Amino acid sequence: MIPYKSEPLTDFSVEANRQAYLEALKKVESQLGQEYPLIIGGERITTEQKITSYNPANKTEVVGVVSKASQELAEKAMQVAFSTFDTWKKVDPVVRAEVLFKAAAIVRRRKFELCAWLTKEAGKPWPQADGDIAEGIDFLEYYGRQMLELAKGKPVAENPGQINKYTYIPLGVGVVISPWNFPFAIMLGTTVAAAVTGNTVLLKPASTTPVIAYKFMEIMEEAGLPAGVVNYIPGSGAEVGDYLVDHPRTRFISFTGSRDVGLRINERASVLNEGQIWIKRVIAEMGGKDTIVVDDDADLELAAQSIVTSAFGFSGQKCSACSRAVIVGDQAYETVLNRVVELTNELVVGDPTNEETFVGPVNDGGAFKKISEYIEIGKGEGRLVAGGTVDDSKGFFINPTVFADVDPQARIMQEEIFGPVLALTKANNFDEAIDIANNTVYGLTGAVISNNRFNLEKARKDFHVGNLYFNRGCTAATVGYQPFGGFNMSGTDSKAGGPDYLTLHMQAKTVSESL
Ligand code: SER
Repeated sequence: MIPYKSEPLTDFSVEANRQAYLEALKKVESQLGQEYPLIIGGERITTEQKITSYNPANKTEVVGVVSKASQELAEKAMQVAFSTFDTWKKVDPVVRAEVLFKAAAIVRRRKFELCAWLTKEAGKPWPQADGDIAEGIDFLEYYGRQMLELAKGKPVAENPGQINKYTYIPLGVGVVISPWNFPFAIMLGTTVAAAVTGNTVLLKPASTTPVIAYKFMEIMEEAGLPAGVVNYIPGSGAEVGDYLVDHPRTRFISFTGSRDVGLRINERASVLNEGQIWIKRVIAEMGGKDTIVVDDDADLELAAQSIVTSAFGFSGQKCSACSRAVIVGDQAYETVLNRVVELTNELVVGDPTNEETFVGPVNDGGAFKKISEYIEIGKGEGRLVAGGTVDDSKGFFINPTVFADVDPQARIMQEEIFGPVLALTKANNFDEAIDIANNTVYGLTGAVISNNRFNLEKARKDFHVGNLYFNRGCTAATVGYQPFGGFNMSGTDSKAGGPDYLTLHMQAKTVSESL
């Protein structure tokens, strides 16, 4: 087996790659507006009720029209997943892993086309779409290999007169509720982690990005995943999401999304329902309020570049996005602030089908409204130094916005905005900067830009985030290299793309034989 290595990102300075992307966009444009059914046990089911997926850069352009599951169909999917579990759990883990490797090969072959769907459905600029698809390939390759390792079991102490074995078995039916911000990578990663470990899945993708999830279903079928292992049931959270979270046959829930929804799922999942014979497990990844700390001796150009890229990549709609920067000392503060403003004003905002666009639209009308409101709140809490304007005449565009001199306790310093809004504040010394960085309820990512080894070591111990980066930005964790997931209100401390992730979907069994 070739050792795991992450998928290289596409070099768009190569003309052939540019052409391939443009071709793929044309192809996808010719397929916009099609209808997609539910997939339950391999069966295509078309419903009356639909979810319409729109292009956020062009509000009236329909990307696809997807059937919408009702509670009855969710129940049907549960029954299929429950019975398929009996056979799927017995399939050799090597075979399960091979389905993932085959899927990775298919995704690689269809990479530009899948990227183009992300550009249209999620508003992802080219490199962001490319990163999302590459991360999906990484999850397939990494979790496949992790499963091969796990299948061997783990050694336990030997005792004369006994044979002791310790192995991992799957849990049962998992409900995967996936987000719109990594509508391919996270949707795929959370689903295949559950499936490769021998569980069956009810996949409820985000309602603004169901088409790319349908493409994923086709890929998994082509790769040989048996019918009923993953069931595709887009639907409303209140109707289908709650029903499945509450269901006595649900064994675990893998959720990625907002803190409020995550907490609600956790609470509902803790209630024992009639006929339920286990404690449900919840794996939740719920967001962040991520900080870059800049030391007074740091490379300030690197600091400004890292802040701007981390704050405004994919319009700040990553749970890892930098939404606050804390800079030590007056001089460094002034320099970084001025440079951040310059770099922000240079960013190209617009339709993500254009190659040069850096900041595309935000997800939908709801996101647009919420972010716009935070910009107004920010005007009362700090000094607006860049952006501050919004435009939803054609798509949901928000100009990258920077506020300076913001109090660390201000709302825009504390609450997750999930958009291109950045707040800057000054600290008197490094210790104070780390205290400010830690003063939120979240603990997902953070970065320190510093040349002071002692300060970096202090941050290593005291900066309480799941993913801490030194002398780089705080986004773009790579599967297998930087396992990803946060502390406190950022979730259940799981690490996607890490060596412990698959076991969250399994339980260990001890068998001891007396000789
Ligand atoms: N894994 C992504 C990142 O690190 C966020 O979900 O940016």
